Amino acid sequence: MSILKNLNQGLQKRIAEGSLRNLSVKKNLVDFCSNDYLGFARSRELDEAITNSPYYGNGGIGSTGSRLISGNSAFAEDLENYIAKFHKAEAGLIFNSGYDANVGLFSCIAKKGDTILYDALIHASVHDGMRMGIAYTHAFRHNDVSHLEEKLKTAQGNIFIAVESVYSMDGDEAPLKEMAALAEKYNAALLVDEAHATGVYGEKGEGKVVELGLQDKVLARIHTFGKALGCHGGIVIGDGVLRNYLINFARSFIYTTALPMHSLIAVKCAYELLQTDYYKQQKQKLEKNVEHFKSLLLACIDNYQIVPYPKGEGLDEGIKAINFVASSSPIQAIIIEGNENVKSLALSIQQKGYDARAIVGPTVPKGKERIRICLHSFNSEKEIKELVTLLYCQ
Ligand SMILES: Cc1ncc(COP(=O)(O)O)c(C=O)c1O
Repeated sequence: MSILKNLNQGLQKRIAEGSLRNLSVKKNLVDFCSNDYLGFARSRELDEAITNSPYYGNGGIGSTGSRLISGNSAFAEDLENYIAKFHKAEAGLIFNSGYDANVGLFSCIAKKGDTILYDALIHASVHDGMRMGIAYTHAFRHNDVSHLEEKLKTAQGNIFIAVESVYSMDGDEAPLKEMAALAEKYNAALLVDEAHATGVYGEKGEGKVVELGLQDKVLARIHTFGKALGCHGGIVIGDGVLRNYLINFARSFIYTTALPMHSLIAVKCAYELLQTDYYKQQKQKLEKNVEHFKSLLLACIDNYQIVPYPKGEGLDEGIKAINFVASSSPIQAIIIEGNENVKSLALSIQQKGYDARAIVGPTVPKGKERIRICLHSFNSEKEIKELVTLLYCQ
């Protein structure tokens, strides 16, 4: 069939560029790639909390329909209120994933003649949502407040600013305070994706916005349950009007079967776990591991040239350089230019028993291919040391 031939041509192009995506099955390696920063997804504590929940086993196997038909429950609505309150917001609406939350929000929040200004490194789900919408969309340079202001000066209609509080591929943080001030100055609405800050920042893991006390300056926040919370799903939180608007206009909420009860119970238990000593311990261990990794990285200074991204423009031939993204989050990106280079380094690390993954184009821009290291509370000092050795001492 000619259509399959066409599809295959797309695959051949990817193979030629070294960017073919392949599924791989977990191989019991030391985890330096999952988003399970606090180890919740593997924790006995969360597992037991779920099975001991008085709601466990209630509510059937599937939710049986969309939230607007048969898939709603008092438990889902109570959970939305509970989560909103936890993050110091008025209301929340649960989506089946963080991806769906962004697609739903960004496809309907801005109307014809409005403008969405988005950080150049914003997540694919925000792009997909904007693509479904009809507003003007313009990128500003990553974390560049002056460039954002330039764009704000000429933006039309209602203006929205889309950022991540912690960037998924770089691990660095948005200058949220400055951005909130600019949003105020230009009467724009700030939308913050907290996917990688949820559970990691804030006293109880409320995220960056609450940590900085900016909750009243943000129109909507997106929290996801599939990363530090170890579960699945996402929520948009904000004003009650926003929730009602999304129920009516967010297509990725309206036209899909709701999450089943057992997923909701897991999310509730994960939020409860954030409020325990167990959480405090995991968070401390995570912070210690991030510091440990970074100090080992800096200890390489004697042997290598450190070229912090984005100033370093690639690696000079013959120089063993560390080209990394400055980040204090569990996401640490080591830039290794070229799809084949980064993939072969990732493979050699995996062969030694450590699961670190190469991120290649088109997920990241050309020249910014990287090993994306995710640190966790459960990684041991020895594992981290060996990982750094594998990264820099071959
Ligand atoms: C910044 C960001 N937003 C949203 C998502 C989507 O969340 P989920 O995995 O729950 O669909 C991700 C996950 O990759 C992400 O990194």
